[in-house]
Amino acid sequence: MSESHTNDEEAPRIREMTIDDLPEVFHIGEELFTAEYSQSLYRTWDEYEITTLYNSDSELCIVAEQERRILGFALGTTVKKQHSPWKYGYLVWLGVRREIQKLQVGERLFRELKRRFKEQGVRMIIIDTSANNKPAIRFFEKHGFGNMQEHVYMTLNLSRRQKKKTVKKP
Ligand SMILES: CC(C)(COP(=O)(O)OP(=O)(O)OC[C@H]1O[C@@H](n2cnc3c(N)ncnc32)[C@H](O)[C@@H]1OP(=O)(O)O)[C@@H](O)C(=O)NCCC(=O)NCCS
Repeated sequence: MSESHTNDEEAPRIREMTIDDLPEVFHIGEELFTAEYSQSLYRTWDEYEITTLYNSDSELCIVAEQERRILGFALGTTVKKQHSPWKYGYLVWLGVRREIQKLQVGERLFRELKRRFKEQGVRMIIIDTSANNKPAIRFFEKHGFGNMQEHVYMTLNLSRRQKKKTVKKP
């Protein structure tokens, strides 16, 4: 009998996220976007992130699915800046389950989101991530992103007593 090497696994399918996907997407995000990932409070993964984007831009919220299991997701939105004729596509969250990263799921998601952005008249895509997220930076550079700009975050702790500065009279 000759051995055949057929692969019964379906290829990942990219489709729009539905309301039933929200819990699974949320839990995948919880594993990826931990407190260590989001050191600044500016970007934290919580249930509002998904529901807000799903409510405002459901066609820009997509998932990769294989055998009824979600492998990853991309959540985006569009932005119009004042005084600019351009429409921007903001890829807010892109995540692939840790155990199947580097198998082109991220690429498939990104390509589909890019197609959807173009369809909506987007001229430029924006992403942001922390400066030490080398895998993501490499991923985005591979897909043509450039013009990297650094951003500074500062904090002021209001619970600490501030020392009063006294001005000496001359
Ligand atoms: C970034 C991310 C979405 C990429 O998805 P993926 O399915 O692993 O990526 P793909 O298989 O399509 O692409 C692989 C490419 O991504 C980059 N990459 C992915 N993982 C990497 C790693 N661990 N180290 C270095 N580069 C990596 C490389 O450019 C790689 O291509 P190369 O090996 O030819 O250089 C995924 O790593 C992820 O979910 N990371 C955690 C969440 C995150 O940081 N999201 C981005 C900001 S919202």
